[in-house]
Amino acid sequence: MDIVEAINQRKSIRAFESDPVPKEILKEIMELALRAPSYDNTQPWEFAIVTGKKLEEIRQAFVEKAEEANPDIALIREFPQPYDTRRRTLGRKVLELKGIKREDKEKRMWWLLQGLRLFEAPCVIYIHIDRSFYRQGDKLNIWPVFDCGLVAENIMLLATRYGLGTIPQIQAVVYPDVLRKVLGIPDSKLIVLGIAVGYPDWDDPVNQLRSEREPLDNVSTWYGFD
Ligand SMILES: Cc1cc2nc3c(=O)[nH]c(=O)nc-3n(C[C@H](O)[C@H](O)[C@H](O)COP(=O)(O)O)c2cc1C
Repeated sequence: MDIVEAINQRKSIRAFESDPVPKEILKEIMELALRAPSYDNTQPWEFAIVTGKKLEEIRQAFVEKAEEANPDIALIREFPQPYDTRRRTLGRKVLELKGIKREDKEKRMWWLLQGLRLFEAPCVIYIHIDRSFYRQGDKLNIWPVFDCGLVAENIMLLATRYGLGTIPQIQAVVYPDVLRKVLGIPDSKLIVLGIAVGYPDWDDPVNQLRSEREPLDNVSTWYGFD
């Protein structure tokens, strides 16, 4: 698949078929994704790739918990403009496509839980890093997290090539204590992000969403080209 096609096709999928994702395909994706660049080639990423009973256990525990989120990497608490408008636009469109009215608290809660259930994806790839590398004295070293973003995009683009859908999800890692317990990930690791992976349910209208992008002219300034 052409890189332009993959970038254009990739989008966040929020409804999955239950068909399992073959391990061989996941291995091919992961092997190539490791070609991502990283700060001084430190390759700070580690992965927990989960399916089956373990994943069901995690889903169940997340839904039962459904309390104040407490991820290892802090959640964003404040969204100044223009970021707040962008995220509200996204949230409104997702709810519209799901046919959920803003005032319908019950359905909104159901949708939140669907997020915690990884939108029923049959597989998830958790990315973690070593805590010792992230904390540097009284400062944070954010570069390993940045590097995780690069490998995550590789994974998602490569998945597209196999007809798979993905969604990067902070919701997947909001209860890291559950993940540590079920997967045996030690406390020395910071769990950065989960990527839900599976075959998209194209009958679900939520997967019609093509999120907006700010026009290039609004976010770029060109120098020395004329
Ligand atoms: C770090 C990160 C965390 C995200 N967490 C969630 C999440 O918890 N739930 C969700 O529905 N989407 C989540 N997303 C998906 C974004 O909403 C999505 O990438 C954005 O709206 C752009 O849409 P697109 O991925 O379809 O291009 C996350 C994306 C990133 C990069």
